[in-house]
Formats: sequence, C-alpha cells, structure tokens
Amino acid sequence: MTLNDLIQETAKIIASSKHVVALTGAGISVESGIPPFRGKGGLWEKFDPMEVGHIQSFMENPERVWRLLISGMKDILSEARPNAAQYGLARLESLGKLKTVITQNVDGLHQLAGSRDVIEFHGNFAWLRCLNCGARVKTVNVALKEMPPKCDCGGIYRPECVFFGESIPMQAMDRSQLAASSCDLMLVIGTSAVVQPAAFMPVIARQSGAVVIEINPEPTPLTQTTSKFLVQGKAGSIVKQIADEVERMMAIIN
Ligand code: OAD
Repeated sequence: MTLNDLIQETAKIIASSKHVVALTGAGISVESGIPPFRGKGGLWEKFDPMEVGHIQSFMENPERVWRLLISGMKDILSEARPNAAQYGLARLESLGKLKTVITQNVDGLHQLAGSRDVIEFHGNFAWLRCLNCGARVKTVNVALKEMPPKCDCGGIYRPECVFFGESIPMQAMDRSQLAASSCDLMLVIGTSAVVQPAAFMPVIARQSGAVVIEINPEPTPLTQTTSKFLVQGKAGSIVKQIADEVERMMAIIN
C-alpha cells in the first residue's frame, strides 16, 4: 500500500471506531524543535541515560544533572510550540473520536494544542518540587542563577518528571492501563517503544482486541508483532492528513 492508502485506511478505521486512544513519544515533538532521546541527533547520543537520566545520579550530584541535562531542557521546552501532529490529535478529540492521549513526553505540548484528556506517563517539566519541603514552583519562574536551583528553605529543586529508576505515577499508570484495555484503536505515534512500562500499553490494547496503528519514520519492536501496520513518515504531515480525512468522512456521514 502507498503512504496515501495507509493514511486513508487509518482515517477509515478511526471514523468507524468508538474509542480511540493515542500513545505518543518524543518523535511527535521533534517537529516542534525538541530532540528525541534515541536515534540520530538524540539526547542519549551525547549522554548515557543511566548516568544522567537516573534518579541515583541526580541524588548523588544534582548540580551535574542540572547542568548537563535539565537546564538545556528548560531552554528548549520554554520555546517549543505545538506542531501539526499535536493539533491533529486535538482535532480528533473534538470530533469525538480520540478519548485520551497517553504521552511519555514532559513538554505539555498536547495540552497547549488543545487536547483535554492527557495522561502524562513520565510526569511533566512544567513544575519543580523542593526535595526538602515539597514546595512546588513553575519551572519558568525559576531563574538558573545558581546550580542546582534551590527553594527558599535551602532544599534543591527537582523537575516533576520521572527519572530512570523511579516508578510511574500511580494514577497515570492506572488510567493508562484502563485506557489501553478499553480502546478499540490505539494510535502509537513517535515512540521507539523500547521503554517499559509505556511500551506495554499497545500490547495491552492488542490483547484486549483493539487495532494498533503506528506512525513513525522507522519501524519499532511493535511493528512486526503488535501493529496492524506502520504509516511510515513524520507525524506532523501524516496526523494532519488523517485528521482532515476523518473530518471529511464524518461530515459526509452526518
Ligand atoms: P525515543 O527518542 O526513544 O524515540 C523517538 C521515536 O520517534 C523514534 O522511534 C523515531 O523514529 C521517532 N521519530 C523521529 N522523528 C519523528 C517525527 N518527525 N514524527 C514521528 N516520529 C518521529 O523517544 P520515546 O520513545 O518517547 O523517558 O522514549 C521513551 C522514553 O525514553 C522517554 O519518555 C524518556 C526516554 O528516556 C524518561 O524520561 C523516563
């Protein structure tokens, strides 16, 4: 099938589905200027995730992790704006098709694009929390005059993101499992599907009888095992075309 056929086929399946869920990863934000973790230009090409992305590294040397990783993320994320893929998913939600977005991203771009039901599987970068007194502060309101930045009480701030070695927030985990097991279609967009337990959500969906469709320039471990097919390419133009097509089909149906 050509790319256009796969886009048409995906739109048809969405239009005939009752409960669509999307699982998104770093790839959906690449066109917003945020580098992914793996692959060419990925963050983990420069750093060893187990070294800088692990909670133990942060606790042992927060200054180093703030300097190497978190301060750069703060700069990039503060500039980032949603792209056509996130807007496309928000349109599918307003058409009544997409019920929930489960995202591994911490950038808040789905919400900025207008998606209302977003499960932040790995937390978010919008807030920092003091390791000493638990006070929360908006990341944008903290100037990085000192590293690591500190609360008035003297405690060190950490982002409310999940580091390697930490559990998934319980509510996010429970809600994601429920969404995965109750959908009839899961769109898996821009994730390498190698980090667990997020990568297990499409497997739950498939085992519960849902169709799984991937949108990604590259195949993933799900492609041959779990997905009905891969719509191969960048999320921005593909999700936009799919949302346009679903809108057209639903206008005809109604
Ligand atoms: P990865 O960086 O592992 O994978 C990004 C995926 O996006 C790859 O499969 C790319 O092929 C794909 N991609 C690249 N450009 C794209 C585009 N324009 N449109 C669509 N897809 C594109 O990111 P994740 O799978 O999200 O965890 O990584 C999972 C987790 O690993 C992250 O949440 C993070 C990381 O370590 C934590 O921070 C705990």
